[in-house]
Amino acid sequence: MKPADDAAQLLELFGIAHAGRMASHSPIDGAVIGRVTNGDPDAACERAARAFDAWRRIPAPKRGELVRLLGEELRQAKPLLAKMVTLEAGKIMAESLGEVQEMIDICDFAVGLSRQLHGLAIASERPEHRMMEQWHPLGPVLVISAFNFPVAVWAWNAALALVCGNPVIWKPSEKTPLCAELVMQLMRRAIRRFGDAPECVAQVVQGDRHVGAEMVRDPRIALVSATGSTKMGRMVAPVVAKRFGRSLLELGGNNAAIVCPSADLDLTERAILFSAVGTAGQRCTTLRRLIAHESVAEELVERLKRLFGAVEIGDPRGSGVLVGPLIDGAAMNAMRTALTTAKKRKGFVWGGEEVEAVPGGHYVRPAIVEMKRQDGPVLQETFAPILYVLRYRELDEAIALNNGVTQGLSSSIFTTDVREAERFMAASGSDCGIANVNIGPSGAEIGGAFGGEKETGGGRESGSDSWRAYMRRQTNTVNYGSELPLAQGVRFDIAP
Ligand code: UN1
Repeated sequence: MKPADDAAQLLELFGIAHAGRMASHSPIDGAVIGRVTNGDPDAACERAARAFDAWRRIPAPKRGELVRLLGEELRQAKPLLAKMVTLEAGKIMAESLGEVQEMIDICDFAVGLSRQLHGLAIASERPEHRMMEQWHPLGPVLVISAFNFPVAVWAWNAALALVCGNPVIWKPSEKTPLCAELVMQLMRRAIRRFGDAPECVAQVVQGDRHVGAEMVRDPRIALVSATGSTKMGRMVAPVVAKRFGRSLLELGGNNAAIVCPSADLDLTERAILFSAVGTAGQRCTTLRRLIAHESVAEELVERLKRLFGAVEIGDPRGSGVLVGPLIDGAAMNAMRTALTTAKKRKGFVWGGEEVEAVPGGHYVRPAIVEMKRQDGPVLQETFAPILYVLRYRELDEAIALNNGVTQGLSSSIFTTDVREAERFMAASGSDCGIANVNIGPSGAEIGGAFGGEKETGGGRESGSDSWRAYMRRQTNTVNYGSELPLAQGVRFDIAP
């Protein structure tokens, strides 16, 4: 079936009218699969500000109930929503189902969290005083998401924001507006079932980057959580900072894996295959740099060539296919440019050729590029399946290479030597937000805080205590005595 027919069926099932000026194209064959209407950013901010006033008064565990209902809707709609992710983002079905599962997981996490938004009780230095810390709702949250995780990124943010007492406005990628429409339909169902939630506690505002930029500037938005390129982050961060808003940034990654002499190569090659080639190399967490010890590099590269050569590339709806299309022609051009530049720098390129799969789509064989030095295209994040290979002798050298880029999202080490693993995770080891042992850099679970350092933006979302970014901390000091002792022993009395 043509992607357009598949999509039309889904839109009808979800009761979504596909009219509007903004077209969505399927990367599978490049055809238009639906249209959406541009949103009104000013009206959305106004509605969110009003919803905030009501939503923050509802007790957190009760707010959790809304997220629980959303989780139920997602469980029911999982295969359908996953199908739309495949149609619009080009992921293979297994990954799309995984992405929806990630939404369900974060809903479950947030429901539990809704009863655990704990503050601290703090010892006061003054007699008959008590100090404590409370976490209050922050305000409307704007979620800007990218095409490569067209539904999960919203969920990581929205599930937490909602239990924390904040309305959410979603500005999805222009490349994946239909996924957002489907999710919003499920959210509306959850809101109706919940009963007394303000309707605009969750909204979607479709449009281009100007629509996003308008909301980024809007002082009614308390937190801007933006996922995308470092270039986008550079535009968003100063604008939000200028109005003293809060931002949570998940920007580019340039993730490396170090493969040590003791590595279990059977496990390592499988981990590399998934993290370098999965999602056609279009995850922030995609493995882009392989730093292999000189004693294993040759064998490893041979093994990888066999695997990359055997991988089935094509329509992501097909069974057995592991690599779907690149998102568009621009992604294809970026990949070509990176490979040409690598060759000019004496890189040895294997693979990377265009594959005729579905006319109108852009399909490629994942590339392996052996480089003498870490420079040129290796320093950039190219959203395509290119794995650069570098060699090292000493672990310190490998760690320096791992850290020798401007991005700092994810990293891995493959070793069976506990000393090497610990050195990699130590303070002087990997400088990334995520450092894994014997697992690739991609495919994180929702339970941990997700995000990275340096040009990755420093934000953390999803699990652990990431929820704090979505709340306002308040310190309270209560005097339950009849004296008024001042802190630091200061005396401030009018002489008798
Ligand atoms: C992204 O690529 O934007 O760890 C996020 C992973 C996924 C999230 C990726 N859970 O690969």
